[in-house]
Amino acid sequence: MPADLISKADMKKLAAEASGISTPGGNARVKEVTNRLLYRLMQVIDECDVSMDEFWAAIGFITQTAKNNEFGLMVPGVALEHFLDLRLDEAERLAGISGGTMRTIEGPLYVAGAPLSKGEARMDDGTDPGEVFFIAGQVKDENGNPVAGAIVDIWHANSKGGYSFIDGEQAPYNLRRRIETDAKGNYLARSIVPNGYGCPPESATRALMNALGRHAERPAHVHFFVSSPGFRQLTTQFNFTGDKYLYTDFAFGTRDELIVTLDRVTSAEEIRKAGVNRPFARAKFDIVLVREKVGAPATIVQREHVIAA
Ligand SMILES: [Fe+2]
Repeated sequence: MPADLISKADMKKLAAEASGISTPGGNARVKEVTNRLLYRLMQVIDECDVSMDEFWAAIGFITQTAKNNEFGLMVPGVALEHFLDLRLDEAERLAGISGGTMRTIEGPLYVAGAPLSKGEARMDDGTDPGEVFFIAGQVKDENGNPVAGAIVDIWHANSKGGYSFIDGEQAPYNLRRRIETDAKGNYLARSIVPNGYGCPPESATRALMNALGRHAERPAHVHFFVSSPGFRQLTTQFNFTGDKYLYTDFAFGTRDELIVTLDRVTSAEEIRKAGVNRPFARAKFDIVLVREKVGAPATIVQREHVIAA
């Protein structure tokens, strides 16, 4: 069929009618968003001459994505989670908020309720043969004052790129910890250098990436939620310099301000002082929280999180 068969006015009228724009009752917000979505979808179908076969294939694909519980992965893969970050960055700028550590995406693999400890924690259970990794940092306010008692909630993949709870191979909460900063705002985590990972081979998300001619891999990274009363909660990650996928992250999570360089330590004296028995890696990741401001858009996102049994 040719493209552009239907007039824009007719599509607009049909989308508005389907969205109950002129009928009483219902939810005004749902009507508004449905109307705009429907109109744009009709436009795309008409402009691209989407066939009935293609349309129903797309519905089947979306259905499969939902059955796989994959939207948490699909959303960052098509840059929408990063797009939401860009919108929040801009909304904060307009609200006069600046100076904090850059945010980036949460991703789909957070598990709530990780063990909480004061000052420091060991995150790995000792079974991962990967490189020992110390992450040290200070949580500060915009003026450089330490934030004592902040909760630094850290999660990351193991040396094979797998997450506890998700991969079913690791102990519950392995490589997931919450650390309360000490009186000087410091936290210290002993862990294992994580590996990057890709979308599962059979996933709908990888199928979409294949169709788009994109890879479905993430560079290695460490996730953070950082919170303290009176401050805006921060959702962020850091990546590592030199990572093969650093600037082509499938999930658009890399931000220049959030790249750390691993310091590889081989000195016998340092190894002894660190309490380990082999060379190790370390990185410093200081975090600046900004104070909450009345009327500013919220940074705490209400979304479903699993809790490990
Ligand atoms: Fe991740």
